[in-house]
Amino acid sequence: MGKDKLRLALLAGGKSGEREVSLKGAEEVYKAFDKNRYDIKRYDPATDLEKIAADASKIDAAFILLHGLFGEDGTVQGFLDLLDIPYQGSGVLGSAIAMDKNLSKILYRNNGLNVAAWAMVTPKDMAKQGWDNSILQDLQFPLVLKPVRQGSSLGMSIVQSKEELSTGLQEAFKYDRTVMVEQFISGREITVGVIGNDELGALPLVEIIPGDKYSFFDYEAKYQPGATNEICPADFDTKTTKKAQHYGITAHKALQLRGYSRTDMIVSGDDIYVLETNTIPGMTPTSLLPQAAAEYGLDFSALLDRLIELALEKN
Ligand SMILES: Nc1ncnc2c1ncn2[C@@H]1O[C@H](COP(=O)(O)OP(=O)(O)O)[C@@H](O)[C@H]1O
Ligand SMILES: [Mg+2]
Repeated sequence: MGKDKLRLALLAGGKSGEREVSLKGAEEVYKAFDKNRYDIKRYDPATDLEKIAADASKIDAAFILLHGLFGEDGTVQGFLDLLDIPYQGSGVLGSAIAMDKNLSKILYRNNGLNVAAWAMVTPKDMAKQGWDNSILQDLQFPLVLKPVRQGSSLGMSIVQSKEELSTGLQEAFKYDRTVMVEQFISGREITVGVIGNDELGALPLVEIIPGDKYSFFDYEAKYQPGATNEICPADFDTKTTKKAQHYGITAHKALQLRGYSRTDMIVSGDDIYVLETNTIPGMTPTSLLPQAAAEYGLDFSALLDRLIELALEKN
């Protein structure tokens, strides 16, 4: 083992619905990390928590490649904090806030960002007479249903009628006991990466155009190669580009994030709606944030170097 190398723990797998996405990303991240600079050991938090704790004194930094609950939500971040292991990206608080789409929207709105109108629904609410009419007072079909603490579009649907609203909610409740019902926004979908600790830089925009067979950027459209057309840098005028980048940075700050993030938005005419912020965005060379970073001048390996550098800056 090279003594001068940084000893990295690559955390991937885990217990969330995005386990497979995580493991696939970890292959790419492992390959791309410069082996002259890093000694990398892999751990799967689903089985290896005790091992991580036992090895803590021999780990200089962790790279967390976990999406969704038990990884992107602050839990693993807290575990690493206790072990005094620095890691890339956001800490406990920011990770936990960003995982919750409802809390995130409240903070976006408080910070002057535009968000789609929404309501929150639990199974208990649905037991009340006329529950659907009260939702439809402020929202109109089509509506988007999202489990409040999920990613990768799992459990999501777009509904056009009361019947679909009811069945869609039942489906979404399998993923979370609280579901967001959000106004559907038609427009062009973009995502905005942000990198930095004290000085934040916004990356070029990526436009996301799911293939015709997809009604939105669902799980398959996200991970099936070729299913979605991704354009970077996205073709928007300077004013829209600057506004979206400003929104990305404002969202990052509003949610108390660190290191990097990627905020999903919809551009609708002159308006931009912020959907959500990912604190551990997908990490293959062709994923959205790495694409944008490459356009910005950071190839995949350089991006990983930068994230580790920012991780160590914290301490
Ligand atoms: N209000 C909305 N209007 C139109 N499309 C939406 C809306 N909310 C989400 N979508 C679509 O669903 C996808 C996933 O939603 P998002 O909020 O980013 O959750 P996640 O990516 O965590 O599953 C988006 O990328 C977009 O294609
Ligand atoms: Mg998203």
